[in-house]
Amino acid sequence: MRIPDPASCHVFPETGKMSDGTGRYEKRLSDLAGLYADSAAFAALLAAGDRVVYDVTEFRPSERPGDLIFGVTRMSPGRVGDEFFLTRGHIHAKSDRPEIYYGQKGTGLMQLEAPDGDTRVVEIRPQTICYVPPYWIHRSINTGEEDLVMVFSYPADSGQDYGIIERSGGMRQRVVAAPDGWALVDNAAYVPRDPEVVRELTRSPA
Ligand code: NI
Repeated sequence: MRIPDPASCHVFPETGKMSDGTGRYEKRLSDLAGLYADSAAFAALLAAGDRVVYDVTEFRPSERPGDLIFGVTRMSPGRVGDEFFLTRGHIHAKSDRPEIYYGQKGTGLMQLEAPDGDTRVVEIRPQTICYVPPYWIHRSINTGEEDLVMVFSYPADSGQDYGIIERSGGMRQRVVAAPDGWALVDNAAYVPRDPEVVRELTRSPA
C-alpha cells in the first residue's frame, strides 16, 4: 500500500486559525438554541444578531482507526444570562476514544461528565494540556473576556454523538458566572441516564 504523506500546519493563536487545514466549520448562536437555562436572555441576544460563536479549522487526513484528526478551535467570549458561551458538547460515538486539548489563548474550562453523572471541570489557559479520557462527555466554555483558542487532537475514528446531552435535559450541572469567576449549579432539568445506557456507554471494547 501507499503510505500517507507527512504534513504540517501552522497555528495562529491570536486569530484562532490554522494554515493548511482540510476543512473548516463555524457555529452561530442559533445553532446553540436550547442549551441555556435563560431562554429569554438567549432570545434577546439572538434578536441582536446571529453571530458566530465558535469556529473550527481541522486537519482530517483520513478516518482510519489509528489515524489522528487535529485542529484549532476559537470561541468568542460572552454570556447568555449567567452562563458563559459554550460548545454543544458530545461523547465520542466510539465512546472509548480520548481527546487532547491544548490552550493557546484566553481562559476557559473543559466541563466533563461521566455517563453516570460524575462531573469534573478542568481550567484551561495558554499552555495547559487537558486530557479528556475515554467515556467522558465534554464541552468547552469560554470564561474569559477574549477569544478562547485551543488545539485539539483525537483518534480519527472517534465520531461524535451530539445528542447525548440533549437526551438527558442538559449536563447534570451548569457553569455560571460567580464573583470569583465561575461556579457549578445543579441543572434542574437533568434526567439521569438509565443504568443500562451507562453500562452500554462504558463497556470495554471487544
Ligand atoms: Ni471530542
